Amino acid sequence: METLDPGRYSSILLFTGAGLSAESGVPTYRGAGGIWGQYRYQDYACQQAFERDPEQVLDFHELRRAKVLECAPHAGHLHLARLQLAYPQLRVVTQNIDGLLQRAGVRVDAELHGSLWRVRCGCGVQAAPPPAAYRPRRCPHCAQWRRPDITWFEDAVNESLFEAVGDWVRKAELFVSIGTSGAVWPAAGFAQLAKRSGADMVEINPEDNEASPLYTRRVRQRASAAIPALFPLTTTAAPSDP
Ligand code: APR
Repeated sequence: METLDPGRYSSILLFTGAGLSAESGVPTYRGAGGIWGQYRYQDYACQQAFERDPEQVLDFHELRRAKVLECAPHAGHLHLARLQLAYPQLRVVTQNIDGLLQRAGVRVDAELHGSLWRVRCGCGVQAAPPPAAYRPRRCPHCAQWRRPDITWFEDAVNESLFEAVGDWVRKAELFVSIGTSGAVWPAAGFAQLAKRSGADMVEINPEDNEASPLYTRRVRQRASAAIPALFPLTTTAAPSDP
C-alpha cells in the first residue's frame, strides 16, 4: 500500500466512528449486527424514552458499558496513540462514546456524541467510571435520574464543541475518516467541510457508503490493518550501551 507521511502536513484531523471499535468487539450502529437493527432508538436512546422509563434506558446503557468493558483497544488504536506522540499536529475527533481510544492512550480532542463514562443531572456532568452499573442511578444531591452524557437521537448537539471542531476541520490539510458510515448529521458535515476547505481526503472503511465520493483515497481495509499500513512508524532504535 502507498503510505502517507504525516510530517508533510501541518494539521491533520482524524474523524472516527463505530467501525474503529468493531474489531475490538464493540457492535457498530448500522449494518450487520448493528445496534439500531436490534434496539429501537425510540425505546432506548432518546430523551422521551428516558423520561418515560429511565430504568429501561439505563439498563440498556449498562449493557453497552458491560460489553465495552469486555473489549480492549486493538492494533489500530495503539498505532494511533504512537502516531499522535510522533505527530502532535494530529487531532482526533470521534463520534464514539466507548472510550477505547483513550484507553489506548490517544489524546481525543473531541467526543462529538459524549461518553458512556459520564453522566449528568441537575448538578452538572460527572465521571461515571466502571463497573458497568450506574450507581447511584439517582443523584443523591438533586434527586434527578443521572442521565448518560450522550447525544441521543433528537438531542441538540454540543454547539460550542461543534464550532471548535469546525475550525480545526477548516484548517486541516489532511482529513482521514476511519470507520464511519457518514450517515449521521451534523457530524457527517465535517467531511464535506474538509473537502470544501481543500484538505487531502482519505477514507478507511472496508465498505462504500454515501459519503465515500468525498474521498480521493479510499482504503478498503479494516482499521486495525489499514492504520499501521497507511502511516508506518519506524521504531526508534534503543540507545546502545556505553
Ligand atoms: N474498520 C473500519 N471500518 C469498519 C470496520 C472496520 N473493521 N467495520 C465496520 N466498519 C465501518 C462500516 O462499513 C460502517 O461504514 O464502520 C461504519 C460504521 O457505521 P455506523 O454503525 O453508522 O457508525 P457511525 O458512523 O460511527 O455512526 C454515527 O450514529 O447512532 C449514531 O451516535 C451514533 O455516533 C454514532 C453515529
